[in-house]
Amino acid sequence: MTLPRVFYVLFLFVIFTLTIVFTNYHNLSSKHRFDDDNQHEQHRSKNEIDSDIIDNDIGNRHQNNTKLMGTIEKLHNEIEQLRLRLEQIETKNNFQSSKIVTNRKFFQKTKLLPYSEKKRILITGGAGFVGSHLLDRLLSDGHEVIVADNFYTGRRSNIEHWLGHPNFELLHHDIVNPLYVEVDEIYHLASPASPPHYMMNAVKTIKTNTMGTINMLGLAKRVGARILVASTSEIYGDPDVHPQSESYWGNVNPIGPRSCYDEGKRVAEALTYAYAKQENLSVRVARIFNTYGPRMHANDGRVVSNFISQAIQSKPLSIYGNGNQTRSFQYISDLIEGLVRLMESNYSRPINLGNPDEYTIQKFADIVLNLVHRDNEKIQHNKDDDNRFMQPYSYHHHHHIEYLPAKQDDPRRRRPDIKLALQILHWYPNITLIDGLAKTIDYFRLELKRSLEERKKTILN
Ligand SMILES: NC(=O)c1ccc[n+]([C@@H]2O[C@H](COP(=O)([O-])OP(=O)(O)OC[C@H]3O[C@@H](n4cnc5c(N)ncnc54)[C@H](O)[C@@H]3O)[C@@H](O)[C@H]2O)c1
Repeated sequence: MTLPRVFYVLFLFVIFTLTIVFTNYHNLSSKHRFDDDNQHEQHRSKNEIDSDIIDNDIGNRHQNNTKLMGTIEKLHNEIEQLRLRLEQIETKNNFQSSKIVTNRKFFQKTKLLPYSEKKRILITGGAGFVGSHLLDRLLSDGHEVIVADNFYTGRRSNIEHWLGHPNFELLHHDIVNPLYVEVDEIYHLASPASPPHYMMNAVKTIKTNTMGTINMLGLAKRVGARILVASTSEIYGDPDVHPQSESYWGNVNPIGPRSCYDEGKRVAEALTYAYAKQENLSVRVARIFNTYGPRMHANDGRVVSNFISQAIQSKPLSIYGNGNQTRSFQYISDLIEGLVRLMESNYSRPINLGNPDEYTIQKFADIVLNLVHRDNEKIQHNKDDDNRFMQPYSYHHHHHIEYLPAKQDDPRRRRPDIKLALQILHWYPNITLIDGLAKTIDYFRLELKRSLEERKKTILN
């Protein structure tokens, strides 16, 4: 505000000075003209001349005064206009600063979408690992997002950077109960996803995936929204077919420890297609394979978080079985891109989203150890030497791995066939395991540091 005001004052000062200079100059030139005239009229009588001089002088002064009055009036008008403009700028500024005070913080930049393109989107389970990244993406794209979460495994810290944003709304809600909101699209992700979490309350896991899914399909039907249901590679069970394509029906133990999740998700898919057929609902189903990245739970018992936490704390890495079982790991940003593309596509059958690079658990352990210890030794990451991290980790190898009995119903091989996603969505994962793991390791280090500091504070208090 101060800068324009200085300009206005300078502007007024320059106009005022110019007016004075102009007036003086005019007086002087009139006087000179008068002197010249005087010489030419020497033959006239002194009285006549005197009266002419006085008349001229009065005339000139009158003319000058009128001009000056005109200029002053013009300046007055200009000042009044500038004052009004200042008032407008001040009002706008006050409005903006009051908005900032209300929000009390600055947010990551979001796109400004025209009303016709802006959607209102519901994410169930939006405070979880996948949901919170999807929230970041949809808000950044300029949409309005409602998150419904019961915080069973979700965390406020995953989404707190959006609290107070005008396009974001958080509902503490358990989807086993009906939900009434007006939305254009629903990403239905609510469900615990890791074995220790979903086994902790198996009945609740089944309820969330069946009753919760019915509630969300019912909501989609009521408001005419398109719904994307997050399914899982677990519906293939311990697969007899490798790699797993969408046409494979799976090999699931219906009464095993994982069945609450595996069968829960299979029912969720069955419900989705029943609604699509019977109620003409617009549906999308993503069969998500093992995904990792920042914000995943450090204690979710899955291999990525287990290995990274153990390696950072210099504990031996736990391998269940002989380590020859395989997994493929997809980085979170690849999954989010796939989910958004699937929602926007016009394909309504299930689609696999995963990274087809397959690793034995033994090899994966070596990669994690190489990366974590590279960080410890402060070795710079050079893209050309990714291969180095793939080599067996040799330093005191036996101290770094602990072999435990294999888990019941643990799939032996897991690798997505993603031809369909490539063909329909033009989607292919593009984050390498080394890059993705490096980012995840950085996140886990920070989390570990934060939790140690919190523990210290609690002890001191
Ligand atoms: N992360 C993966 O590797 C992976 C793999 C396959 C499928 N998926 C699917 O993706 C979805 C998200 O998984 P994630 O890894 O983000 O798990 P997550 O546990 O981090 O997130 C799940 C979210 O759902 C919420 N939730 C659970 N039950 C709920 C209920 N009854 N009502 C409301 N909210 C509830 C949790 O509080 C949490 O915020 C899940 O449906 C999961 O089955 C994930």
